[in-house]
Amino acid sequence: MNVGIDKIGFFTPNYYVDMVDLANARNENPNKYLIGIGQTEQAVIPNTQDTVTMAANAALQVIDDSNRDKISLIILGTETGIDNSKSGAIYLQNLLGLSRHARAFEIKQACYGATAGIQMAKEFVNLHPNQQALVVGADVARYGVRTAGEVTQGGGAVAMTIAADSTILKLSKNSSVYSDDIMDFWRPLNRTEALVDGHYSNDIYQQFFVKTIHDYLQTNDMNLTDLSALVFHLPYTKMGLKGLREILPELSETDQKHFLSEFEASRVYNKRVGNLYTGSLYLSLLSLLDNSDDLHAGDQIGIFSYGSGAQGEFYTGTLQPGFKNSQRKKQINEILNQRTRLTVPEYETMFAQWPKLDAGDYHLDDLKDHSQFTFTGVNEGKRQYQTKA
Ligand code: CAA
Repeated sequence: MNVGIDKIGFFTPNYYVDMVDLANARNENPNKYLIGIGQTEQAVIPNTQDTVTMAANAALQVIDDSNRDKISLIILGTETGIDNSKSGAIYLQNLLGLSRHARAFEIKQACYGATAGIQMAKEFVNLHPNQQALVVGADVARYGVRTAGEVTQGGGAVAMTIAADSTILKLSKNSSVYSDDIMDFWRPLNRTEALVDGHYSNDIYQQFFVKTIHDYLQTNDMNLTDLSALVFHLPYTKMGLKGLREILPELSETDQKHFLSEFEASRVYNKRVGNLYTGSLYLSLLSLLDNSDDLHAGDQIGIFSYGSGAQGEFYTGTLQPGFKNSQRKKQINEILNQRTRLTVPEYETMFAQWPKLDAGDYHLDDLKDHSQFTFTGVNEGKRQYQTKA
């Protein structure tokens, strides 16, 4: 069996702010944002999208008549869920018309949730090879206007199906994990914006990467050069580069160039979206698959997942013959290229329109949101979702 990622899809809403515009508005040198942070554009999330609608809009690209009835596990990884009790996965199941004979739930551990979902789905499909799992990472990354974290905001969703005969990436049996009680990034229940100790979080990320990759290579009797590329959780793309630079000295000059070139392919999409929290790592994987010219079926990819608080995990996957998909690449570029560029004041207005936690009942006009699934407000305390024809 080749249990692994069979399909992968991505969604981000229709708005972005340009990072040069943002740098100018904040009196910063644009190169700080473009090079120092490694971002060119940042997704701005309208109030008619939330983690459920973004997850459902991404999942549209991976669910069709060939697999709809096979999905019997639905996992939503998110740290910006829409309810303290009911999971977003149940809404997702309903919006997508998935089987009622499915286990549906949400996983939270900061940006790590989707990886926990993938590992669980892998075990599930190993036991039940005729069934499939849907795993989605969806988030809205918010720190606040004029905060240090503003430049690392964003949002969107990545949806994946896990199947026995995967066409994209066979998942390794083993992985190396490391966790510790760390206050680097958190979001108390009464807040819609995260709190963060930014430089400390960078340090912990790098430490967890080094610990888990070395443990993985040692335990599995492998060398770095057995891997053809590395993908990282990218809260902002320079973060992955900082991780990569930790292990570059262990490689020859030729291999360093190779890993750096694959890293560039792995951050093409993330540079234009910003942080998706749980989805960031898997958007980077998608970016690598679509934008590297140097990978072949059978190549092994190293995958580093990090969720503040903190959990790290390193695992690998083997590329399968169907990993390239020109139609998927075209669709993602259309999603990114067709977005509306907001001015900084327009972005600030949209940011401020995000529903307050104590907003009560309200109705949102979704006429300008042409996504298939939209959020239209709260009625008698219940969230209202709309499916467009
Ligand atoms: N040209 C080129 N580079 C420049 C520059 C210029 N003109 N001016 C500054 N820079 C560089 C700096 O040298 C620095 O590079 P290094 O990190 O390589 O040293 C980089 O730009 C950023 O500059 P600062 O460190 O001064 O930036 P800052 O203090 O404003 O904060 C940040 C940056 C810590 C990332 C902040 O944006 C933040 O707190 N973000 C949120 C936290 C975060 O994303 N942490 C990541 C790990 S935690 C995680 O992964 C979970 C998650 O998703 C949140």
